[in-house]
Amino acid sequence: MHSLSPAFHLPVLGCWLSLCAAESFFACPSSCKCNSGNLEVDCSGLGLSSIPSGIPTNTRTFLFLNNKLSILPGAVFSNLSALQRLDLSNNFLDQLPQNIFSDLGNLTELQLRNNSIRALDKDLLQHTALLRQLDLSINGLAQIPSGIFDDLPALRSLSLRSNRLQSLDRVTFEPLTSLQQLQVGDNPWECDCNLRDFKHWMEWFSYRGGKIDQLACTLPKELKGKDMRMVPMEMFNYCSQLDDENSSTVLDNTGPPCTKGSPTPSKSKSGPETEVEPSVGCPQKQRYRPVSVRRAIGTVIIAGVVCGIVCIMMVVAAAYGCIYASLMAKYHRELKKRQPLMGDTEGEHEEQKQISSVA
Ligand SMILES: *[C@@H]1O[C@H](CO)[C@@H](O)[C@H](O)[C@H]1NC(C)=O
Ligand SMILES: *[C@@H]1O[C@H](CO)[C@@H](O)[C@H](O)[C@H]1NC(C)=O
Ligand SMILES: *[C@@H]1O[C@H](CO)[C@@H](O)[C@H](O)[C@H]1NC(C)=O
Ligand SMILES: *[C@@H]1O[C@H](CO)[C@@H](O)[C@H](O)[C@H]1NC(C)=O
Repeated sequence: MHSLSPAFHLPVLGCWLSLCAAESFFACPSSCKCNSGNLEVDCSGLGLSSIPSGIPTNTRTFLFLNNKLSILPGAVFSNLSALQRLDLSNNFLDQLPQNIFSDLGNLTELQLRNNSIRALDKDLLQHTALLRQLDLSINGLAQIPSGIFDDLPALRSLSLRSNRLQSLDRVTFEPLTSLQQLQVGDNPWECDCNLRDFKHWMEWFSYRGGKIDQLACTLPKELKGKDMRMVPMEMFNYCSQLDDENSSTVLDNTGPPCTKGSPTPSKSKSGPETEVEPSVGCPQKQRYRPVSVRRAIGTVIIAGVVCGIVCIMMVVAAAYGCIYASLMAKYHRELKKRQPLMGDTEGEHEEQKQISSVA
């Protein structure tokens, strides 16, 4: 009996202790530094190639900088739904499982700076609606899949600096309604027709008060080193001509931000030192609808109206002619009818007179 009680009590005590640890002591994975006050686990600079197990589930901040992480198992963060800050900077990550962050509904800050990420899944950030800060700088991204930012209405700061981006699509960025800071510098931008719509978006973004660093062109050679925002819109007029050739497909790719009525802002800000070109804004955008198509539509409308008027006049004339002719015919018929009748009545009168005189 005496030997049983400690054996019985120890697991209970252990259980109680681990419960306590989870609640208040904030059990720390071995070799990491932990701060139970702000629920922070710091495993930075330990040369680790995998995420340690046993991270407390109530962890709010997990720092894993300067390690050798290259592969992330899909479920590695699945128990950390309280996580608000995750920093995996300065590792060797080259790809991220599509659902790696899908349980991190409280995440507000995600740092992936200085890894080797070459591609992102468009559903990667589908469940992190509270995310405010996302750093993807110093990676190998060659493109940003459209739709990846669709579920980030709270994102305020985004860095895509130092990647391999040549072009961006404006529709990818339009869902970022809270964005205030965007870093796009140090990428091999190709300032051609593909980037023209994004230039429009950048101008709208700046007008809205957003901060954006330099987007310096690498190609074409004539624009090398120039900031895309300073390149006059006229340089892209040839794109409209190209569009003309494909006019049926390009008519419907106009974006939303024209609601703000923005021709005035670029003028109201005093000209020279503003980043916004004097000749840009929303009405400008409509000008890119191919001119020849608009002309053709106008011609068709005018021709239609003229034809319509002529047709109506012809119908009216014809109707008038018909009515006139039938009236005349009727009149003549009646005239012919009436003359003999009148002769008859006169004859009758005479006859009556003769009869009465005879009587
Ligand atoms: C998450 O928690 C469950 C139950 O507590 C555990 O079995 C599982 O191993 C944990 N997963 C990770 C990745 O830590
Ligand atoms: C990027 O990470 C590597 C290794 O993790 C490090 O040696 C290098 O200094 C980092 N570069 C920057 C710019 O932070
Ligand atoms: C946010 O964290 C709390 C715990 O602090 C958790 O109960 C809740 O499920 C988390 N929310 C989401 C969306 O994951
Ligand atoms: C026009 O369409 C062709 C084929 O659909 C395409 O290869 C070309 O890039 C398009 N040009 C423009 C300017 O969109």
